[in-house]
Amino acid sequence: MKEMKLVPLVLIVFLFVRHGTFASFTPVDNYLIACGSSKNVTFQGRVFVPDSEHSSLVLKIDNSSIASSNSSVPSPIYQSARVFLGISSYKFGIEQKGRHWLRLYFYALPKSGQSLKSALMSVVTDNFVLLNNFAFNSYNGSYMSKEYAINVTSNTLTLTFIPLNNSIAFINAIEVVSIPDEVLPDQALSLNPTAPFSGLSELALETVYRLNMGGPLLTAQNDTLGRTWENDVKYLHVNSSAVNVSVNPANIKYLTSVTPETAPNLVYASAEMMGNANVPAVNFNITWVFTVDRNFTYFVRVHFCDIASKSLNTLVFNLFINDDTALPSLDLSSITNDLSVPYYKDFVSNSSVDSDTLTVSVGPDTMADTTNATINGLEIMKISNKFRSLDGRFSVESLLPSSTSKNINIRIMVGSIVGAVAAVVVIVLCCCFLVARKSKTTQQRQHPWLPLPLYGNSQTMTKIVSMIDGGNSGTDDDGEDAATSAVFSQLVNPRGR
Ligand SMILES: *[C@@H]1O[C@H](CO)[C@@H](O)[C@H](O)[C@H]1NC(C)=O
Ligand SMILES: *[C@@H]1O[C@H](CO)[C@@H](O)[C@H](O)[C@H]1NC(C)=O
Ligand SMILES: *[C@@H]1O[C@H](CO)[C@@H](O)[C@H](O)[C@H]1NC(C)=O
Ligand SMILES: *[C@@H]1O[C@H](CO)[C@@H](O)[C@H](O)[C@H]1NC(C)=O
Ligand SMILES: *[C@@H]1O[C@H](CO)[C@@H](O)[C@H](O)[C@H]1NC(C)=O
Ligand SMILES: *[C@@H]1O[C@H](CO)[C@@H](O)[C@H](O)[C@H]1NC(C)=O
Ligand SMILES: *[C@@H]1O[C@H](CO)[C@@H](O)[C@H](O)[C@H]1NC(C)=O
Ligand SMILES: *[C@@H]1O[C@H](CO)[C@@H](O)[C@H](O)[C@H]1NC(C)=O
Ligand SMILES: *[C@@H]1O[C@H](CO)[C@@H](O)[C@H](O)[C@H]1NC(C)=O
Ligand SMILES: *[C@@H]1O[C@H](CO)[C@@H](O)[C@H](O)[C@H]1NC(C)=O
Ligand SMILES: *[C@@H]1O[C@H](CO)[C@@H](O)[C@H](O)[C@H]1NC(C)=O
Ligand SMILES: *[C@@H]1O[C@H](CO)[C@@H](O)[C@H](O)[C@H]1NC(C)=O
Repeated sequence: MKEMKLVPLVLIVFLFVRHGTFASFTPVDNYLIACGSSKNVTFQGRVFVPDSEHSSLVLKIDNSSIASSNSSVPSPIYQSARVFLGISSYKFGIEQKGRHWLRLYFYALPKSGQSLKSALMSVVTDNFVLLNNFAFNSYNGSYMSKEYAINVTSNTLTLTFIPLNNSIAFINAIEVVSIPDEVLPDQALSLNPTAPFSGLSELALETVYRLNMGGPLLTAQNDTLGRTWENDVKYLHVNSSAVNVSVNPANIKYLTSVTPETAPNLVYASAEMMGNANVPAVNFNITWVFTVDRNFTYFVRVHFCDIASKSLNTLVFNLFINDDTALPSLDLSSITNDLSVPYYKDFVSNSSVDSDTLTVSVGPDTMADTTNATINGLEIMKISNKFRSLDGRFSVESLLPSSTSKNINIRIMVGSIVGAVAAVVVIVLCCCFLVARKSKTTQQRQHPWLPLPLYGNSQTMTKIVSMIDGGNSGTDDDGEDAATSAVFSQLVNPRGR
């Protein structure tokens, strides 16, 4: 009898624990950095730590300063900034390889020594160009936040700021946060022509739009992955074409393939559906219009959840991306076998033909029992181009033609040449001294001894330079020290080996 009672109790405990672990995703890598700040900054419920105090973060800065302001800033994260006068990097230790959010926050602080508004900069990772030639002077706004999803395949992620045209670069805050592997796929469906698109995992993505259709603004406090979801109304082609519907978020039933990491239940608990567009025909599309860069391809994720139907298989509709049919005659209940169950689908698309817009539409299926259509969430992400860039047609290599390691090589080469010349001078002086002592008796001309030491030294120098060039790529300061001491020991004993 006792045992029989225990079973449900154990089950309940098990379910509770499972639910508990399920609901609280904790990223392995979780850098929240307040650049140039002297104190912790709390933003959207999360604590950002000063860049100077973070233990597993390396700063490689030639010359930087700090800007800060006590006057009102758009959000606490913008109170301070680190300002770079030369190419500078942050190097993040990565514990878990795979996709990471890389979020950057910029605000041209009004009260600061340098004019941050005229800063002209590029920002790159190890492999991808994130921002190129960016200046607030030519940007419509005084602050900007950017979100990228980068697959990190090594143990570090280096973020480099490049001031251009003798200008400066700056950054207010940085996030580097793990994304669960299952959230972003390697494949999606490419439209026009319809074909599978694979290889996304090797490309960089930049979030350009993320919408909670028919619902409120959601921030990092409402999303386990720290994402922001905005309301869709300002992108509607015709305001009255849509009406919002919403239910209690607790009604959303996650099944195996979709989790709160895909999107929070607050996204699925609201939707836009067909309104009264004051058009004679009841058959119309609801269309959202987005400005995009026509030189890029976009990843489009559409979230659905039938929260309005009273019974299964009554709502059947079409999804279009631009003028292409993305999902014809979509009957959500035939896929999910229930109402209020989330579902999403991924596509790859360009802008509309010859335009800088991308449109997403839903409209009723003519064969359906009811004339209606629904959509709950929408994410549009720019895909990096063949230059591995998300901004323009330049690669990381072309923006950093002499990489940091090459700069170090040049410094060592200059150093070793100076050292070699000094050594030659010392040897020449020693020889002079010896020759002078000898010449007291022999009175020889100086020529015979000169060619030999000079030849010997120049040979040593060529050896050193090629050694440094070949063996010092991807060096850090330790490598530089080692190479320098190697050079030094060779020069001290030029005829050794
Ligand atoms: C800042 O935040 C970090 C991480 O939450 C914490 O370990 C540290 O004690 C905080 N520092 C201060 C001065 O509050
Ligand atoms: C940093 O740059 C400023 C302005 O160009 C200059 O005055 C200062 O001497 C530099 N500091 C170092 C350590 O290079
Ligand atoms: C901000 O306020 C603190 C103390 O109130 C002061 O020490 C600091 O100089 C101020 N900073 C600026 C940039 O005004
Ligand atoms: C800049 O913003 C203003 C006001 O928000 C808007 O009217 C204008 O069209 C924008 N310009 C550009 C180039 O986006
Ligand atoms: C950078 O400087 C060059 C030469 O002064 C100028 O032609 C170019 O327009 C500048 N670039 C920007 C983006 O201001
Ligand atoms: C990241 O890239 C590696 C190597 O291309 C790949 O094996 C891995 O599946 C990718 N991870 C994700 C989450 O896309
Ligand atoms: C939903 O629609 C109502 C009526 O038009 C409007 O007042 C409300 O702001 C909308 N809610 C959202 C989240 O868009
Ligand atoms: C988002 O989270 C904040 C903080 O917990 C809360 O105040 C707010 O109501 C939440 N938004 C929604 C739509 O639930
Ligand atoms: C449509 O909605 C947006 C956002 O609420 C508003 O700014 C705009 O004026 C509306 N347009 C019309 C025609 O009602
Ligand atoms: C679509 O469904 C919603 C929610 O039930 C309803 O408010 C709206 O009027 C319907 N639209 C049409 C065109 O029937
Ligand atoms: C697209 O690329 C072309 C050719 O490189 C360039 O002229 C144009 O400015 C680019 N468009 C945008 C929106 O950047
Ligand atoms: C909805 O949009 C698609 C794609 O542009 C178009 O083919 C279709 O005719 C539209 N449906 C209605 C009812 O306007």
